[in-house]
Amino acid sequence: MTIPLGKAGISGALWLAAAMAGWPSGREAPSPAGATNTVSAPAPLAIVHGPLLQAPSETGMTVSWATSRRCVSWVEYRAEGASSWRTHRPAHHGLVDADVTHHNVVLTGLKAGEGYVYRAVSREIVEFKPYQVTFGETVTSAEHRFRTLDPAKATLRFVVLNDRHEKVEALAASLASVAWSRVDVVFLNGDMVNDAKDEHQLYRCVVDPCVDHFAAQIPLVYVRGNHDARGSFARRLLDYFPTESGRYYYTLRHGPVAFLVLDSGEDKTDQSAEYSGLVAFEPYLEAQVRWLARQVEATDFQRAPFRVCFLHIPPLPRPDPKFVRPQWLVDHVVPLLNRGRVDLLICAHTHRYAVQQAGRNGLNFPMIIGGTETVLECDATAGELRVRAVDLSGKPLRQLEPIRRRTGG
Ligand SMILES: [Fe+2]
Repeated sequence: MTIPLGKAGISGALWLAAAMAGWPSGREAPSPAGATNTVSAPAPLAIVHGPLLQAPSETGMTVSWATSRRCVSWVEYRAEGASSWRTHRPAHHGLVDADVTHHNVVLTGLKAGEGYVYRAVSREIVEFKPYQVTFGETVTSAEHRFRTLDPAKATLRFVVLNDRHEKVEALAASLASVAWSRVDVVFLNGDMVNDAKDEHQLYRCVVDPCVDHFAAQIPLVYVRGNHDARGSFARRLLDYFPTESGRYYYTLRHGPVAFLVLDSGEDKTDQSAEYSGLVAFEPYLEAQVRWLARQVEATDFQRAPFRVCFLHIPPLPRPDPKFVRPQWLVDHVVPLLNRGRVDLLICAHTHRYAVQQAGRNGLNFPMIIGGTETVLECDATAGELRVRAVDLSGKPLRQLEPIRRRTGG
């Protein structure tokens, strides 16, 4: 039996006992006053972070969450209007994903633009012996809804935030200012942490605030910033913010917009002492440029009414020899974005909101740089793309001129 409990439900009599005793899920039951030598009942199994939606596409969606104990997990889902549920239990190399506390379930074979209902389910693994596994409780999330991406969608609204640098309260305030009912997808344009330490930091600084406001129903796209590449846990970032491509650079199409999500890497040379010889961005970014050269010529990309690129570090001439990346992007990425007839570049990194009209610094398209307290709300139709930028108080900032659809080749 599964009993819904807000965002997460807990199965069975233990939940009832816990609820009747008046102590919250996920915490130890207190000992009665004055009692000695009592044994506390273990906290019930709980979903402690998520679920959240990531890696959206026209035919897929990844559902991610974390449990309080090691589990095997799956997603139950159905098309809106369908009565029967389907189950997807992820497996890799012949083994069902199991005995972990962080869960990513990749749903595939979905229909573009279709609405789905889903719930995340985890079953505890109490003991994992080679020839006998002992299972424990099962926990099920509340039911949530999502819609797959759809190139035929007439209008699109997307929201962009960046550079919160672990300021969770400011992030929560920004998220609270958004009217979520019409938002289709959210982009976090990098540097939501100062450096990647562990999963608890990623849950606290990114996942939990997003889940509190939108991410169980609206997909989140995390664009890697240079600070996200720092710290030992940076090597695990894709485990928590997975992408459909399995890389940090790829394309997405939703409604009238073809999105280019790019990785701008670190801001200094690979040989810089700060990196201790443990980064290799130069060959990696050159490979991304080779991919980009092919991608900007792709027919689907060119046929989209609008082409929007995300790049954490803005391509700006910067004479400081230590910070090589902005000029490298001017030299290697901007020519390809010009050739690809990109309509808008959305950057971050400088911590100061700025707008640059088309035709400056070698860019044939406008660039907008989000600040540390900026929320960008972007609306696209087949004929026009508008960006509304507000600060933490909701006050409108200097606005970019509406972008009209280009005509001719
Ligand atoms: Fe940055």
